Amino acid sequence: MTIQIFDAIAPDYDKVNRVLSLGMDRRWRQKAVHFLPEGSALRVLDLAAGTAEMAIVLGREARVGRVTGIDCAEEMLRLGRLKVQQQGLTGKVELIAGDALALAFKDHEFDVVTAAFGVRNFPDLMQGLAEAFRVLKPGGRCIILEFSMPSGWWQKIGHSLYLGMAVPLIGGLFTGKKEAYCYLGRSIRAFPSGERMGRIIRQAGFGVIERYALAMGAVTICVATR
Ligand SMILES: C[S@@+](CC[C@H](N)C(=O)[O-])C[C@H]1O[C@@H](n2cnc3c(N)ncnc32)[C@H](O)[C@@H]1O
Repeated sequence: MTIQIFDAIAPDYDKVNRVLSLGMDRRWRQKAVHFLPEGSALRVLDLAAGTAEMAIVLGREARVGRVTGIDCAEEMLRLGRLKVQQQGLTGKVELIAGDALALAFKDHEFDVVTAAFGVRNFPDLMQGLAEAFRVLKPGGRCIILEFSMPSGWWQKIGHSLYLGMAVPLIGGLFTGKKEAYCYLGRSIRAFPSGERMGRIIRQAGFGVIERYALAMGAVTICVATR
C-alpha cells in the first residue's frame, strides 16, 4: 500500500515537502549529515532514498566516498536518478531498487546507514533496524531523521491539528491525492517518539543512542552506534 502511495505522489513529492515543512526539510537533512563520523571515503547506505533528497546531500560531502540509496518505489527512484545526474553526482551516488527489510548486502559493508523520513513507513520497523545493524561495520553509525510528536501538551495539540487538517488539505490540493497525506498524518501520530524510539533502536542491537529534537520536537534525529 505504502509503495503505491509513493509512486503516485512522486512527481509532486519534493514540492509538497517544501510547502508542508515551510522550506525547512532540506535544512533538516543537512543537520542529519552533520552527524556523519570522521573519516574519509565513507561508504553510506541511504534507506528509503525516494527521490534522492538525502542521498544528494550525502553525495556532496567530501568525506563520503560512495552513497548507495535503496527504495522500493520505482517512480521515486526514476526521478531521483534524474536529480543525481543533474547534480553531477552519478559517479558517487547510485540508486537501486530494494527492500530495506531484506537488504541485498553482505554483513558489515557500510560505515554509515541513513534513513530520512523512511523508517516510519517500514511495515516492520524492528526488521528494518536489524538489517541496518547487520550491514553496518562494528563502530558504524546509523542516522535516522524522522517526524515525531512534540512532548509538550500545547505543541502536541497544535501539531495534531496541523497533521489532521492542514496536511491533508495542502497535500491534497497540490497532488490530488488527499488520502496519501491523511496517511502521512496518521503514520506520524502512530510512530514511536522520544524515549520509546530510543528503546526500539536499542532492542535492534545498537549501543549508544543520542536524540536531537528539531522544529520544537516535530522532527527528531536519532544517532545510533553499532
Ligand atoms: C517519505 S519518503 C522519504 C524519501 C527520502 N528519504 C527523503 O528524505 O525525502 C519514504 C520512502 O520510503 C520508501 N519505503 C517504504 N518502505 C520501504 C521498504 N520496505 N524498503 C525500501 N523503501 C521503502 C518509500 O517508497 C518512499 O520512497
